[in-house]
Amino acid sequence: MNGWSGPKLVAAVANHGGVPIYPIGYFTDPAAILKDLQSILPMLSDNDQQDNIDNNSHDNNEEGAKTEFLPYAVGFVTFWLDRQGPDLLIKILEGQGDLPRSTPSSAATISGSKKALRPPAAVWFSFGDYRPYLKLVRQHGAAGTRVIVQVQTVQEAIDAQQDGVDVIVLQGTESGGHGAQRVRPLLSFVPEVANVLQERGRANGLKVPAILAAGGISINAQWRAVQALGASGVVIGTGFMPTFESPGPQHAKERILKTGDGGDTTVRTRIFDELREFGWPEGYDGRVIRNLVTEREEEDLKTRSIVEPKGADAFRVLREDRTGTKEDWKQAVKDQNLDIIPLWAGTGVGLLNKQMSAAEWMDQLLGESDKDI
Ligand SMILES: Cc1cc2nc3c(=O)[nH]c(=O)nc-3n(C[C@H](O)[C@H](O)[C@H](O)COP(=O)(O)O)c2cc1C
Repeated sequence: MNGWSGPKLVAAVANHGGVPIYPIGYFTDPAAILKDLQSILPMLSDNDQQDNIDNNSHDNNEEGAKTEFLPYAVGFVTFWLDRQGPDLLIKILEGQGDLPRSTPSSAATISGSKKALRPPAAVWFSFGDYRPYLKLVRQHGAAGTRVIVQVQTVQEAIDAQQDGVDVIVLQGTESGGHGAQRVRPLLSFVPEVANVLQERGRANGLKVPAILAAGGISINAQWRAVQALGASGVVIGTGFMPTFESPGPQHAKERILKTGDGGDTTVRTRIFDELREFGWPEGYDGRVIRNLVTEREEEDLKTRSIVEPKGADAFRVLREDRTGTKEDWKQAVKDQNLDIIPLWAGTGVGLLNKQMSAAEWMDQLLGESDKDI
């Protein structure tokens, strides 16, 4: 959710009882991330509130001491973490995204004592090999820190259960933003994983992790449907994009709200990863709202048999006559020109048509509002 989620949205979701994910994404400046995390704190309705994962501090270390957690998860793009090294992750696990607080001094004491720095309630890994970081969380993190892993195949879910991951997010092809190219629809993915994890739990005495469904979920009936299929919760990306608290640009939010028929008006592609030069590994693409770039890419595929244009070839599609260059890309980014730059969105985009606050949107999704569809 880089560029689409930030401290304001994280605080709004936490304050309304959800578990927000602060997107660390393609980070380059660890100090800036820690500062941004600290800026969430004054916006939390109760800065001493516990995480919403189980609404409690976790009674979790050998002495039975309680660890306090911040009420959000931080989300890493795993292959990017491989490139940057684990320092930022370790700092976050040490609670460096928190700020020192004093316990209130009672009349009898001279000064308040310092409370321990709080780590986030959970760490999320997606797109790459999470296992070295799972180990690192278990070694350096406070006991009780949850590990969430987003997967795209049944085998990956089985492996994550075997590895002792706490929460597995099943990402369907419906999802907005990045995902695997070999990805399946939630309708069959969720029940197959739910069954196999239960069976393996029984047969091998393995813990059955919580399963969350991600992809195209915009309304309460979909949330109930994935629950019926075996998920205990949902992960929402696109649905939060047009909310008031999201840091995305208003003209992009409006385009999301005006876009209908998400199965047709969105498409999975790798072209924007070529244009952005983030070096996404093979096997991943991302779902976006179709625009001039995806149309030209599809046209080239049909008429010139060009598959996945790379490097300078990718920049060519930025002009109708295929003479585009990197300069055109830079200009489009500067102008926030949605005909050229990606507007990531899932297939549920057609069900979003009114701008609201994150809290209102959550109430509608959870069926706690009479505005529910
Ligand atoms: C704008 C946007 C950015 C995203 N960024 C990330 C990310 O940085 N890391 C990640 O694991 N998933 C990311 N995702 C995917 C989500 O984790 C999730 O799978 C997806 O949003 C669920 O589908 P939905 O968008 O249809 O609700 C992103 C999705 C969107 C829409």
